[in-house]
Amino acid sequence: MTSKLPWGTQPNPLLLAPMQGVTNRGLREVFGTTVVPDALFTEFVRVRPGSATPVTNADFIEATTEVPGVPLVVQVIGSADEGVVQACQDLVSRGVQHINVNMGCPWGRMTSILAGGGMFSAPETVEPMLSELREIVPGSLSVKTRSGIDDERQIFEVMPAFEAAGIDFLVVHSRTVKQKYTGAANHDLTREIVERSGVPVIANGDVTTAVGAAEVVEATGAAGLMLGRGAIADPWLFNRIRGTAPDKPNGEERRQELACHLSMLLSAYETIFHGDAQILAKLKSVIAMIPDPDQARWCKSLKKQKRVLSLRTLLNDSVSSFESLRAVDLAESRHR
Ligand SMILES: Cc1cc2nc3c(=O)[nH]c(=O)nc-3n(C[C@H](O)[C@H](O)[C@H](O)COP(=O)(O)O)c2cc1C
Repeated sequence: MTSKLPWGTQPNPLLLAPMQGVTNRGLREVFGTTVVPDALFTEFVRVRPGSATPVTNADFIEATTEVPGVPLVVQVIGSADEGVVQACQDLVSRGVQHINVNMGCPWGRMTSILAGGGMFSAPETVEPMLSELREIVPGSLSVKTRSGIDDERQIFEVMPAFEAAGIDFLVVHSRTVKQKYTGAANHDLTREIVERSGVPVIANGDVTTAVGAAEVVEATGAAGLMLGRGAIADPWLFNRIRGTAPDKPNGEERRQELACHLSMLLSAYETIFHGDAQILAKLKSVIAMIPDPDQARWCKSLKKQKRVLSLRTLLNDSVSSFESLRAVDLAESRHR
């Protein structure tokens, strides 16, 4: 049987995490053409309960805009009685292949109903919903989950439902919903989940360096890694983990990598957002996710810019000598 996994038979896949407000189609295009993750995920598509059109047009555009050659997984959030199955049917009818169900979102309304991390409150609803989805999803069906609401052993209560419904893989961020982003991801627990799971497990949480990535793979035995905040702060993290970019670039190299990336991101944002204020706000929200003390002054000066043109000029000044370095990385990515 051929693999339904988005990354096919590629061992140790590296995936870009879904991040609401961050991993829009512009950012995915930049990652997909530079560091080429083994799969990209959309921000979550929120199902609109009771609406004749459970998926908005904006979400349809996001869900169907792919980077050629890079598999796209569309993430949905919602519960069966809110119309998540109908929403997925609509997505599939527009060509979507891979669907991921969010069972981890810790924010606001998502946890007060049976969606996102809130689905842990009603584990009996999980298998019927996933089984219905299994019938209609042509490519992979997967779940991205935290370890529980306030008890990290809760995941073991729902794992049998995932497998009974026939999901293809599971992404685990080993923090509870209550923890939000405090503390550290518990990769000892990830290891236990890997050991007890009948489907491939992708480990997620707090991977920010190549060394850290190797440690998590070694400690957990996970089938692959999903990179979130670490990849936004350091897009070349994908290549560092693959060994095709230096693990510890010096300050100048790091500045140039970031400048090149942000410059490409700015160009992508100019095509999907409108007006300097919106474009700059989006780019600055990405810059705010770069917690690098060595680049803090430079990032601050980028964030001070009030026009797209002046921001571009500042980035261009830092990019100049980077083109050749990027060309090498691109060539290596293609030859992988
Ligand atoms: C700004 C932001 C938005 C996020 N949005 C989503 C989302 O839409 N769907 C989802 O499953 N997880 C979402 N997450 C969680 C990440 O996908 C990931 O599980 C989490 O950040 C832990 O991984 P990391 O330590 O590599 O960042 C979001 C995280 C952040 C920081």
